[in-house]
Amino acid sequence: MENREQWGSRVGFILAAIGSAIGLGNIWRFPYVAYENGGGAFLIPYFFALLTAGIPILILEFGVGRSKRGSAPLSFSRLSKRFEWLGWFQTFLSFGIITFYSVVIAWAINYTIFSFNLKWGDDTESYFFGEYLNATAPSGLNLGGIQWQIFIPLIIVWALLFFTISRGIKKGIEKLSLIFMPILLVLMVIIVLRAITLPGALDGLNHLFTPDFAHILPSFLGGDNPDWDQVWIAAYGQIFFSLSIAFAIMITYSSYLPKEKDVNNSAFITAFSNSGFSFLAAIGVFAALGFMANQSGSDVADVVSGGLGLAFVAFPTIISEFPAFNAFFGVLFFMTLVIAGFTSAISIVEVVVSSITDKLKVSRTKATLWICIIGFLISMIFITGTGLYFFDTLDHFINSFGIAISGFLELILLGWFIKVATIREENNLVSDFKIGYWWDIMIKIVTPIMLGYMIILNIISESTGLYGGLPLPVILIFGWGALLIMLIVAVIMSNLQWKDNQEERIPKTKSVTK
Ligand code: PFF
Repeated sequence: MENREQWGSRVGFILAAIGSAIGLGNIWRFPYVAYENGGGAFLIPYFFALLTAGIPILILEFGVGRSKRGSAPLSFSRLSKRFEWLGWFQTFLSFGIITFYSVVIAWAINYTIFSFNLKWGDDTESYFFGEYLNATAPSGLNLGGIQWQIFIPLIIVWALLFFTISRGIKKGIEKLSLIFMPILLVLMVIIVLRAITLPGALDGLNHLFTPDFAHILPSFLGGDNPDWDQVWIAAYGQIFFSLSIAFAIMITYSSYLPKEKDVNNSAFITAFSNSGFSFLAAIGVFAALGFMANQSGSDVADVVSGGLGLAFVAFPTIISEFPAFNAFFGVLFFMTLVIAGFTSAISIVEVVVSSITDKLKVSRTKATLWICIIGFLISMIFITGTGLYFFDTLDHFINSFGIAISGFLELILLGWFIKVATIREENNLVSDFKIGYWWDIMIKIVTPIMLGYMIILNIISESTGLYGGLPLPVILIFGWGALLIMLIVAVIMSNLQWKDNQEERIPKTKSVTK
């Protein structure tokens, strides 16, 4: 049997999986999505999506990786040669994400340094979009020039990605996760403790948690929101992105597990730790927004934001208004973003490295070097003046279509074209506790229906106009075109021969004992 690298310990594996799950999405996406979609009441669709899709798919992906012992393309191909292309498609989706995710980490590094003298000044919005990004709406071939200030941290991010991943699973990724995940938690706890003791914090938390049940229900159940179904779709989208599922990541990470290691319990631990961190972040963010509203004498609803606006416009303002230790808390906040982002970025690059080394049998160092160079070059597009618009388009298309299509196909192929119950039975053999038939129903029926519906709704909303009012070429290149290229290259890759016929060497699973 081949020698596949392995995690040094179960804790190492779980912390790496949690490190992938906890990322920018927990800090700038979850609080805002929850607030926008019914506040406290959003927890109902959120937990519904977690239990019907998030945890079952984590268990599925952990199970596939553990038993097939390969990157996503190799694992899928060992399940059935016809599935290999999906592994590649997921690999390329991940690669698409890292090209702009790395840029956000670079911004956060810049802002960590800016915190020392609150360089963003009083008007944080025009500083970020104007002076810092030089954001220019795309027109013709003019990209608006490279922002050299971002270039330097971007190189650092890619160099660190190369350095960590080329060291391998145990010495690189595991070691990094064992050090950084506890630090991340400590930083977040300090931020939350400070935020909830600021004036106005309670008001922010009330805005976040006050449940609006009418927002999440159909009218025959007393709802008042004609788009109530969008709330449920948003919950699914959040769960997929946040748990890094349907991106080949969890399959890759679990392929480095020793064969007899638990997966069911690990999936629950990963999922609940990720949600716990999201709640913690939401408390910190809304307490801080409450403080911001309090300082400016406005309503919390008027200062609420998510995404880039929250991290790089609202938070710098909040930090400047802090009663004391402004620089200290600025550094703390942006370091939290850097660490949360970096441990996710690592997992994304590892997916590509693992797929390439499996297929072409090149060395880890060589594969990592090339992937980091190509990734770096592509990410340069996003540090130009027009980069923000390209980034936004790619992000939107990957989130609205990439995830849903990839998740849907994974569940249909694995749920209906192989005996998926076998994966459950094998998982149960090695796991701390057993899962029942409910899991098959989620994988085969409930979640595919939700994802299918999500795809239809998203296509309808896309057909009402060009995303963000952007020019057609931008939508074609960074939207549909990017997804199409990923699909085509995925099919090409899956038609290439495996070196040494490894896809035929399907590891035996029958001998697995507890
Ligand atoms: N789960 C990470 C977050 O919530 O920020 C982001 C992420 C990592 C998404 C890896 C997708 C992915 F493949």
